[in-house]
Amino acid sequence: MEPVVAVIGATGAVGDVFLRVAEQREFPMKQLKLLASPRSVGKQLTFRGQQITVEDTTERTLERADIIFCSASSAVSKQWGPWARAHNAVMIDDGSAYRMDADVPLVVPEVNGDDLEWHKGIVSIPNCTTTPLAMALNAMRQVAPLKRVTAASYQAVTGTGAAAAAELQAQLEAIGRHEPIPAPVVYPVQIAGNVLPQVDDFDEDDYTKEELKMRNETRKILHLDDLPFAATCVRVPVMLCHSEAVHVEFTAEAPIPRIIDALRSQAGVEVSADPKVYMTPLQAAGDDTVYVSRIRRDPTVEFGIVFWVVTDNLRKGAATNAIQIAEEMLRRGLVPGVSKP
Ligand code: A2P
Repeated sequence: MEPVVAVIGATGAVGDVFLRVAEQREFPMKQLKLLASPRSVGKQLTFRGQQITVEDTTERTLERADIIFCSASSAVSKQWGPWARAHNAVMIDDGSAYRMDADVPLVVPEVNGDDLEWHKGIVSIPNCTTTPLAMALNAMRQVAPLKRVTAASYQAVTGTGAAAAAELQAQLEAIGRHEPIPAPVVYPVQIAGNVLPQVDDFDEDDYTKEELKMRNETRKILHLDDLPFAATCVRVPVMLCHSEAVHVEFTAEAPIPRIIDALRSQAGVEVSADPKVYMTPLQAAGDDTVYVSRIRRDPTVEFGIVFWVVTDNLRKGAATNAIQIAEEMLRRGLVPGVSKP
C-alpha cells in the first residue's frame, strides 16, 4: 500500500527541492497534498508532469495523510506535530522544534536508521550542517574513538530560506548595475561581498543556536552524549551548499589511509584521497553526496586530522534526508496504517 503524503512548506526553498527529489527517487505515494500558508492558496506547482494546487494547512487538508513532511517554521511544526501523533500519522520534521526531544528520533539513515524503530509519530531530520558532519564522523570513528571535534561552517543563504536567497540575488544585481544596494531585511547586514559570523540567534555561553544545534545534534545522532565539541557557524554569500572545515582529535592513532578507507565505506560519502583535489559548493550543488576532501594531519595534537566537507544543504541537508527517512520507515513497516511494500 502506498502512503498519502502531505508537504507543509511546499512553496519554500526546501519544498521545491523536495518535489524534485521525490520525482527522481520515484517515492511511492497514493496522493500528494501540497500545503503552505494562506498566502499561497491557489498557486500551482508541478509534480510528475501534473499541476497540483497549493492548499492552506488545516485539519481538513491534512486529513488522511500518512506521512507529513514539514519544512516551514518551528511554530508550524509545533502546531502540527501533536496533530500528527493524535491522528496516527508520521511527521518528518525539517525544523529544530523537536530535534532534541528524548522521544523523537533524530535520524541520518546511513548512520542511525535503527533509531527510527522507537519513533512515536514524529521524526526529526538534523540541521543541514549536522548531517554531513555526522556522516563523516561516523565513518572516522570506525578507525579510532573520537576525543574532540571543532568546526567552522561556511553556510549558503538558501539555508535561511527563499527570502534570503532573493536578498542575496537582489544585492548582487544592484552591485552589478552600480546601483544603491537595497537595505537588508532577512540578515542584520548586507550579505553580498560579506561574511556573517552569526547563524541564528545568540544563546548560551555566547554561542549561536546554530552552533549549539551542530554540537547537540551530532552527539545525539552518534550516541556520544559527552563528545567535546565547539563550532563557529558563518553565513557566506553562496547561494547553495554548506561547507565545513573540521578538526577531529582521536583517542588513538588514526592513520589517514585508514580514515580514507572508512570514508569510502560510508554510504552517501565520497572522499578525495588526493589532499590537493577538493570540492567547492558550485561543484557539489544538485546532488546528494557528502564530499570530504583536504584530509591532513593536525600537528597540534597527538592523534588528529583536519578535513573539508561540502554538501548540498537543500538536498542531503534537508529534502533528500527527509525522503530517505520515509523510504526507510516504509521499508521497515514503521508508518502506521501503511503495510510493508
Ligand atoms: P508561504 O510560501 O505560503 O509563505 P522558506 O523556508 O523558503 O522561507 O519557506 C517557508 C515555507 O513555510 C513556505 O512554503 C511557507 O509558505 C511555509 N509557511 C510559512 N508559514 C506557514 C504556516 N503558518 N502554515 C503553513 N506553512 C507555512
